[in-house]
Amino acid sequence: MALANENYLKTPEIYCFDEIEKRVNAFKVLHPTSKIIRLGVGDVTRPLPVEVVKAMHNSIDEMGKVETFRGYSPPHGYDFLIEKILKNYRTLGVSLDKESVFINDGAKSDIGNIGHVLGRDNIIAIADPVYPVYENATIMSGRAGVINDDQKWSNIVYLRCTADTDFVPELPTEKVDVIYLCNPNNPTGTVLNKTELKLWVDYAIEHQSIIVYDGAYQAYVNEPNVPRSIYEIKGAKKVAIEIRTYSKTAGFTGLRCGYSVFPQELMVYTKMGEEVPFIKLWNRRITNYTNGVSYIVQRAAEAIYSKKGKSETKELVDYYLTNALLIRNELKSLGFEVYGGISSPYVWFKTPDDQPSWKFFQQLLYEHNVIGTPGIVFGSSGEGYMRFTGFSSREDTLEALDRLRKGKY
Ligand SMILES: Cc1ncc(COP(=O)(O)O)c(C=O)c1O
Repeated sequence: MALANENYLKTPEIYCFDEIEKRVNAFKVLHPTSKIIRLGVGDVTRPLPVEVVKAMHNSIDEMGKVETFRGYSPPHGYDFLIEKILKNYRTLGVSLDKESVFINDGAKSDIGNIGHVLGRDNIIAIADPVYPVYENATIMSGRAGVINDDQKWSNIVYLRCTADTDFVPELPTEKVDVIYLCNPNNPTGTVLNKTELKLWVDYAIEHQSIIVYDGAYQAYVNEPNVPRSIYEIKGAKKVAIEIRTYSKTAGFTGLRCGYSVFPQELMVYTKMGEEVPFIKLWNRRITNYTNGVSYIVQRAAEAIYSKKGKSETKELVDYYLTNALLIRNELKSLGFEVYGGISSPYVWFKTPDDQPSWKFFQQLLYEHNVIGTPGIVFGSSGEGYMRFTGFSSREDTLEALDRLRKGKY
């Protein structure tokens, strides 16, 4: 009898964003001609940069000729891409060695995969509200314990991230082993500055913990003193994994490419307290479980670092940031309590009269045909809040704001 990993059954059957689709489809059945505007899901809408497309055409041609054909990628990824990544880090004053960078098919895979090389008994800390994958990955790996009446898992430490903390997570008050940090944060759009992030690095050094630093939105950092990389903070290489992706930086959500950094200095420990370089474990995982990312996609990612690629990518990010700022300003002028939207494509705002977030979702959908994401899907502290994204087209964003202006809240 083949047994199931029952931990998988403990996560919700429907991924949170699918519930939104279910409700939107129900609306569409009743109102088939209504024009729905999506400010909900965090997927990009602008096409790929021209340089990226050109690089793919060229590499496809290379794959069709015997002299330039490529088979398996090196397990870490190709040097041509890793060199560009290292050069980019150097512009931030961060020097990393080539072996510490691992190209992957986007951030989500490694967020889940990292759990496989960590001991089962680690105590995991996540912010509440938070990108749902950190919690689900912890549940599926069997580390979450049991669910309590307040919908919180007994072995997860939830870091308070509320209006009282300006929606940045609070440092744990107890000892935790692995901390997931997202900066700029999804869903709240808020940021930790360098001084604040230093406290997290110091905490991790003191407690021999590690930080899984999700920098999916680092390209959106738009304020001085907010780090683009955790390695800008002294000591971080000893305690932090950094996960980055081209998804929101260059429109790669459908193409799939990103990378994770595991510095040589980063240690985990055996039960006897012996140090083990994290990268040693990761190399074993990579060589046994994956065969890398396609040559064509890695060439596409390399193109982002060319002069033209950089300027096209900046244009893309600026486009979404402008949308986010328009949303932020409009919601503020309508009297909403608003967070984020400055160094982030996400705008987080309080529902009128403390309405439950699914109720306000329905109101937005049925009265204005606008879709947001209810804060509750990101954790119980997200109740009473909504998230809008700047990822729609400018026209749709402006139209949605126009519709909202006509509403009563
Ligand atoms: C915080 C965060 N991390 C990771 C991801 C996943 O990114 P990728 O497309 O690279 O898998 C997302 C996607 O929305 C995200 O919001």
